[in-house]
Amino acid sequence: MVPLKRRKVASSQTGNTGTDCGGRGGPNQFPQVVLFLLERKMGASRRAFLSQLGRGKGFQVEDSFSQSVSHVISENNRGDEVRAWLDSQVRGQTPVHLLDVSWYTESMRAGRPVEILDRHKLQQADEAEVVVFSVPGYACQRRTTLDNHNSVLTDALSLLAENAELSEDDGRGVAFRRAAAVLKALPGAVTDMTQLRGLPCLGGHSLRVIKEILENGASSEVESTKQSERYKALKVLTGIFGVGAKTADRWIKEGICDLHQLQDSGQTLNRTQRAGLDHYDDLSRPVTKAEADAIGEVVEGAVASVLPGARVTLIGGFRRGKLTGHDVDFLITHPEEGREVGLMPKVVSWLESRGFLLYQKTTRNSYLESKTGPGRPSSNMDRFERCLSIFKLTEEERGGNTETLTESCLQSLSTPDPNPQPHAQTHRGGPEAGQTNPAGRRPWRAVRVDLVVSPISQFAFALLGWTGSKLFERELRRWAAHEKTMSLSSHALYDNKQERYLRATSEEEIFAHLGLEYIHPSERNA
Ligand code: UTP
Ligand code: MN
Repeated sequence: MVPLKRRKVASSQTGNTGTDCGGRGGPNQFPQVVLFLLERKMGASRRAFLSQLGRGKGFQVEDSFSQSVSHVISENNRGDEVRAWLDSQVRGQTPVHLLDVSWYTESMRAGRPVEILDRHKLQQADEAEVVVFSVPGYACQRRTTLDNHNSVLTDALSLLAENAELSEDDGRGVAFRRAAAVLKALPGAVTDMTQLRGLPCLGGHSLRVIKEILENGASSEVESTKQSERYKALKVLTGIFGVGAKTADRWIKEGICDLHQLQDSGQTLNRTQRAGLDHYDDLSRPVTKAEADAIGEVVEGAVASVLPGARVTLIGGFRRGKLTGHDVDFLITHPEEGREVGLMPKVVSWLESRGFLLYQKTTRNSYLESKTGPGRPSSNMDRFERCLSIFKLTEEERGGNTETLTESCLQSLSTPDPNPQPHAQTHRGGPEAGQTNPAGRRPWRAVRVDLVVSPISQFAFALLGWTGSKLFERELRRWAAHEKTMSLSSHALYDNKQERYLRATSEEEIFAHLGLEYIHPSERNA
């Protein structure tokens, strides 16, 4: 209801304006029309003025709302808002006409109630003015959490990106990835194309796909891609660890489209592909956070044992808060520069001797600032000492029974072990020879694990570079190059104008060097 104080104001104004507008008409010239003006958003004084104006023209304008009101007039309100207000005043039927103030002023001008047109009727929430989204142009300027309000659209665009990448059309792949990333960053669901006006990175192709999904619920291009034999074959074959788009394409040209055909073909596989094929099913299954943590404990045990004081950090998607991943990534360093040298082979042999590794390939550190020069933005390959592995995660570690795990680790740690190899011995006879536990389940699974060692002086850059997402990293480097004339890599940041390296001991400092707001790992899910 109108507060008492305002009602007073209203009545005093009624008296004043009454003399100006009175004299014509007389009360209630239009008995079918009983008006009520809503003060909400209109304001008390404008309401009083307009009410008096109407009365002067012979309209019946009520001061308070009642069941007898036939027309409710409001300004800057939506139909659903007015209805909610009316519901709070009187239960039961609401008046027939909820009208915008434009109908009222036009009626005043005409001196009679004008015909009610569509434009006079209040809009409902869903047809109200659409929310137009706006986001900055680079993914590294945006906070992209895992809370994606547009997953139907982003899944479709990501599939097209993947298909382009599998077809080695990286340009198109990045375009679709950027478009998907923009939609991931929006604070709400897109329901109308007009909401996308002015958004960056949405090219014609992406917009067509989005439009089709908004209109029909699906994109014909996405559906036909999913059904295409070539896409299906590329997915299956590149799903093998060690097989890239090029190899898959060559095999498809030779008529190899699935795993059986590959096995029957007698193709020579390298050691990595052999391992990838052996553990295909396990490696296709998402890794859970619990499994990542269990592996983390084993890795920490290994690192602590071979170099006390060395630090292990979970990186990749799990550091961004993802609940599952395709692998588990760890970054290892030591607070004293140089102490990390030679660490990787020791960690690997510790793990290997205890049967934790089904496969591993270690590459040596090839980064030398003096020789390599500034991190080259064109290359996202880095040169850390790195171990790509397939981990054997046993039930014991996986069960989430940290006590058991810690005990087993401690046992391994305290026994200088001449030659124990418990796991390796237990499972001798081929990786998938498949001993099963009493429940009929194999008591272990294979998990892809990446280990990276960085010297402490490069740690912040390695941490930033290995936390991802891949698009976020790409956008950071693009920002650095195009907006700052700098070169960012997982090793260093080089200022091309000042011709010097910009040092940093934390991710926060790197964002500051780049003139960017700090983005938390959980907000880098672009
Ligand atoms: P991943 O491929 O492991 O992706 O690379 P992810 O974000 O963890 O996601 P899933 O769940 O495993 O699929 C992790 C980060 O490591 C960087 C990538 O840029 C990414 O940001 N990386 C990966 C490199 O810098 N170099 C590489 O050779 C591989
Ligand atoms: Mn990962």
